[in-house]
Amino acid sequence: MKALDRGKYIVLPIGITREGQWRLGDRALDPPAKALETGRLMTPSADPSGPLLVPADLRSTRSTPPGIDVIFPVLHGTFGEDGTVQGLLEMANVPYVGAGVLASATGMDKDVMKRLFRDAGLSVVPWILVLRSEWKREPAAVTQRVLREFDFPVFVKPANLGSSVGISKVHNRAELAPALNLAARYDRKIIVERGIDAREIECSVLGNDNPGASLPGEVLPINEFYDYEAKYIKEGSEIIVPAKLPQFRVQQIRDFAVRAFTTLDCAGMARIDFLLDRKWGRLYVNELNTIPGFTPISMYAKMWEASGVPYSKLLDRLIMLALERHKEKLRTQLRFAPSAAK
Ligand SMILES: Nc1ncnc2c1ncn2[C@@H]1O[C@H](COP(=O)(O)OP(=O)(O)O)[C@@H](O)[C@H]1O
Ligand SMILES: [Mg+2]
Repeated sequence: MKALDRGKYIVLPIGITREGQWRLGDRALDPPAKALETGRLMTPSADPSGPLLVPADLRSTRSTPPGIDVIFPVLHGTFGEDGTVQGLLEMANVPYVGAGVLASATGMDKDVMKRLFRDAGLSVVPWILVLRSEWKREPAAVTQRVLREFDFPVFVKPANLGSSVGISKVHNRAELAPALNLAARYDRKIIVERGIDAREIECSVLGNDNPGASLPGEVLPINEFYDYEAKYIKEGSEIIVPAKLPQFRVQQIRDFAVRAFTTLDCAGMARIDFLLDRKWGRLYVNELNTIPGFTPISMYAKMWEASGVPYSKLLDRLIMLALERHKEKLRTQLRFAPSAAK
């Protein structure tokens, strides 16, 4: 919010509580998290003929709903990054930054995402899908399947989540069942994946129909892998931007990143994360994040900074791209009138 050019924008902070209530903060509010505590309770509305946010307290006298030109979602996880809030904004006909419903939903589902990448000819780490119901019903058969498919270590992940929540690195058979039980708490779909001894390389993509990729960066996690603690709690994980890589590799990464972006039909922004096998030099697309971490010191912004796009410029671009995308959508005919079709 601080980085947005106040000569151009009126910035209204909106917070969504853990319980799902929307609160509209004051435009002078900084930091935005304060909107969560003191903001006015609002009800989001999908009615395109009315305002997006309607004051929850209809008797309130100061209850004029704000006019909103564009929403900039800076959200993570369920109901934020998975296409649901994007669906609300589609129905309400409000422009918003970033991926639409389809790209958000597929970018969130590691199983579907990997299938689409594989289909596009991008290398993905071999994986199998296990349904929670399957794991609960026949654990021995699932264990056998994993042992048949992979050597240890394997990674066990809930298919739809992020921030490494519910993810385990499994070193041996004894650790497998606890890992599957943990992942099963967070999703009905679980993926089991071959563990790769790899460098973790990331690349930012920006644009709509003709996106461009930044210089790549590298993450050096402080823990055995980039788990929740290494991401958010413990100090010591390092990021190196730009990553030290030979020129051909940089080209390959940028090329894969743009292809991953267009494969999921993303819009605006995405951060594509890679695993670069230390031993064999193979480059795998690990995942695509439709709403990457978004502080000025987050990877997404740092990689653009290193590529010549400063943070506030990046925000301008993303807002322009959101408006452009919305305009493009309005060109699509939504009604079919047989007699007028000629
Ligand atoms: N197949 C794998 N081989 C090696 N490390 C992995 C593998 N899958 C995940 N990891 C490690 O786990 C971290 C989180 O996994 P990721 O698939 O990126 O989930 P999230 O969406 O929660 O970030 C990665 O950053 C990496 O450190
Ligand atoms: Mg990740």
